[in-house]
Amino acid sequence: MTWLITGGAGYIGAHVVRAMTEAGEQAVVYDDLSTGIADRVPDGVPLVVGSTLDGERVARALADHGVTGVVHLAAKKQVGESVDLPLHYYRENVEGLRVLLEAVTAADVPSFVFSSSAAVYGMPDVDLVTEETPCVPMSPYGETKLAGEWLVRATGRATGLSTASLRYFNVAGAAAPELADTGVFNLIPMVFEKLTENAPPRIFGDDYPTPDGTCIRDYIHVVDLAEAHVATARALQSSPGHSLTLNIGRGEGVSVREMIDMINAITGYDRPPTVTPRRPGDPARVVASADRIATELDWKAKHDVQDMIASAWEGWVRVHPGAARS
Ligand SMILES: NC(=O)c1ccc[n+]([C@@H]2O[C@H](COP(=O)([O-])OP(=O)(O)OC[C@H]3O[C@@H](n4cnc5c(N)ncnc54)[C@H](O)[C@@H]3O)[C@@H](O)[C@H]2O)c1
Repeated sequence: MTWLITGGAGYIGAHVVRAMTEAGEQAVVYDDLSTGIADRVPDGVPLVVGSTLDGERVARALADHGVTGVVHLAAKKQVGESVDLPLHYYRENVEGLRVLLEAVTAADVPSFVFSSSAAVYGMPDVDLVTEETPCVPMSPYGETKLAGEWLVRATGRATGLSTASLRYFNVAGAAAPELADTGVFNLIPMVFEKLTENAPPRIFGDDYPTPDGTCIRDYIHVVDLAEAHVATARALQSSPGHSLTLNIGRGEGVSVREMIDMINAITGYDRPPTVTPRRPGDPARVVASADRIATELDWKAKHDVQDMIASAWEGWVRVHPGAARS
């Protein structure tokens, strides 16, 4: 099979490309390089520079490369920015997907994997979030992911396209330092940034109803996540007309305080955090039930949080060499 991987020059996409090619699949990257980095695309994998909003360019890429499946990761992903720029987020994430699906169905491509997010759940008031937990997104970003799932599922029902929506929980780590996430949008790089500045890491609120009072999240290593895409792609390939919606997490919660303690230990810094008031909209606990993906795809995460921190730190030090503690 030849998979078109939109957003394949991005952080997660580059890992998906690597996992797919290591598994013996052919990959073609389609990316507008708005946040992606061309050097992340490995030698031998074609890179088509274009937007998913450009239907003609997508159609040409599908035909030129004989594409038989699409993994769609291209999107804007910053929750805060989506609050300020909702029209931009709906255009890139929903209209970009609609245009892509039009080209995919016109070309009779049989399989489509969509990057969704735990952001579709909003503030779930449950111990473990299952795929049946109601989706009440709290941001335009989360809304675009939920609308994207609807679009993907409806297209599958109407055309027979095999589809999967993968709801990623908190993605971290890297397969190699040069593939690490370069943005500072979630807890691990935010703590790295503070430590590098010799400032205390920040905890936003320690009065949540959790054992240590700080928020709890489910972290997933990007290498495990990429392998889940390979398993999904194979499942769609072998079951035409399939429709899957799957959480991708470890099913284990880690608190912000636990995370900061581990980061201090792994990086060699020993800087206690400061506590500042809660941020609006942060749920106390968001932890996946990873049962459905285990049953459907026989997939389970292999890497722990220490692996995520250590590999993310190698990537951070590559870009900020002064941060290393020898
Ligand atoms: N990083 C996370 O923790 C996380 C969690 C849940 C879901 N996701 C989803 O995973 C996907 C990948 O995220 P990432 O962390 O790798 O982000 P990223 O910004 O590193 O990658 C996104 C890639 O898509 C490209 N792109 C963006 N808009 C495009 C468009 N219209 N046409 C073509 N290319 C476009 C960018 O250039 C970039 O290479 C996104 O859909 C995101 O919403 C990410």
